[in-house]
Amino acid sequence: MTTMLIPRAVRAQAPALSKELAPNYGSTVCRRWKSGPYGYTQAKALVYSKYGDPSNVLSLHTHSISPSLPSNQLLLRTLATPINPADINQIQGVYPSRPPFTTLLGTPEPSAVGGNEGCFQVQSVGSAIKSVQKGDWVIMKNTGFGTWRTHALAKENNVLKIEDKEGLSPLQVGTVSVNPCTAYRMLKDFTTLEPSQDWFIQNGANSGVGRAAIQLGREWGYSSINIIRDRKTAEDTEAMKKELLDLGATKVLTESELQSREGAAHIIDWTGGKNLKLGLNCVGGPQTQALTKTLSQGAHLVTYGAMSKQPLSVPTGLLIFKDIKFSGYWVSRWSDAHPEEKKKTVEEILTLTREGKFKDVPFQEMRWDWGTEESVLKGGIAGTLEGFRSGKGVLVYGDT
Ligand SMILES: NC(=O)c1ccc[n+]([C@@H]2O[C@H](COP(=O)([O-])OP(=O)(O)OC[C@H]3O[C@@H](n4cnc5c(N)ncnc54)[C@H](OP(=O)(O)O)[C@@H]3O)[C@@H](O)[C@H]2O)c1
Repeated sequence: MTTMLIPRAVRAQAPALSKELAPNYGSTVCRRWKSGPYGYTQAKALVYSKYGDPSNVLSLHTHSISPSLPSNQLLLRTLATPINPADINQIQGVYPSRPPFTTLLGTPEPSAVGGNEGCFQVQSVGSAIKSVQKGDWVIMKNTGFGTWRTHALAKENNVLKIEDKEGLSPLQVGTVSVNPCTAYRMLKDFTTLEPSQDWFIQNGANSGVGRAAIQLGREWGYSSINIIRDRKTAEDTEAMKKELLDLGATKVLTESELQSREGAAHIIDWTGGKNLKLGLNCVGGPQTQALTKTLSQGAHLVTYGAMSKQPLSVPTGLLIFKDIKFSGYWVSRWSDAHPEEKKKTVEEILTLTREGKFKDVPFQEMRWDWGTEESVLKGGIAGTLEGFRSGKGVLVYGDT
């Protein structure tokens, strides 16, 4: 173990770190990555110091991380981080969880790092760390850590180790904890679906969550009715239907088909009118009424997204006469309250991935290299707000 003496002038170049994350100049020496003078790791992060449109408020901040780690800290190198709708809402200031603004990274204004999910490789560990070692892959235990950054200092209890990374890609690991876990828990935690008998229906079926629900449903023997928005052309709509059927969807309808008399009749025919026990609502708005009306007596509608940005309106009779139960689901609440369950759910989904039973959502990879300019990163992130996208935006870290 080498002890480095850091001259006062060089120490002054490092950003002001809090006491908690302040370097311990006399303990472990970490491996250099993009190294600066005296072995400092050069790092970048997409930060914001006020809420607003990501293309206005995000900025790329460069800072240094000391080669000496406090005994209870890990240095992580980021491999892949998705851009989820919630990340954008968080930066806009319209999401319920808001990471605190701090000066930990030495930003001129107190700020937070964007992003909530990702796959990281352990670069070096402090002397007291036992549960992970250099080279391991980890994900964040809780949301709100701030993942759009090339490197991070974390504590042992901030991370969940991926027990077996063999056969997995950073993209698969970096996108497992939000969408697939949400689909998994919504299918399991609200009502009991009988395999080979019961059905669920969902809108936003081509979303990350929707695709995960289709595949888990297929794996567990639940039939699914999947609602998508009509595409610009009939060919595009058919192509999207085929994509979801190939993933394991039992039926796929467009919003307009669902609203037609024939659509409703088909659903009664397929489900026997009594086995459609669960609805998953990604969209909200008036269009969700048609979906809710198809549910069987006593079924459950679980709302997890509001992509239409419209309130959900429900005919009173569905509550009184059909006894439909309405709930909301928020994966952050679940994962913060049940970290062990999160680990088990993540490992189960990754096992299915490794076995080829759980396919990736289509990705639009955005490479983040050391020289990638702020405007490129911000442009890519802002673009993820658009509908009818061909894939989920994921930042993939290159020579950072
Ligand atoms: N509550 C939770 O714990 C939780 C967890 C994960 C995700 N979510 C939420 O779930 C939603 C989907 O997230 P994701 O990451 O799966 O999304 P995603 O993969 O980016 O897909 C977005 C989905 O929303 C649809 N969409 C976009 N704009 C729409 C509009 N104006 N009206 C109707 N549908 C629209 C898209 O359909 P097109 O292809 O037709 O545009 C697509 O199906 C988001 O609201 C997200 O915040 C919630």
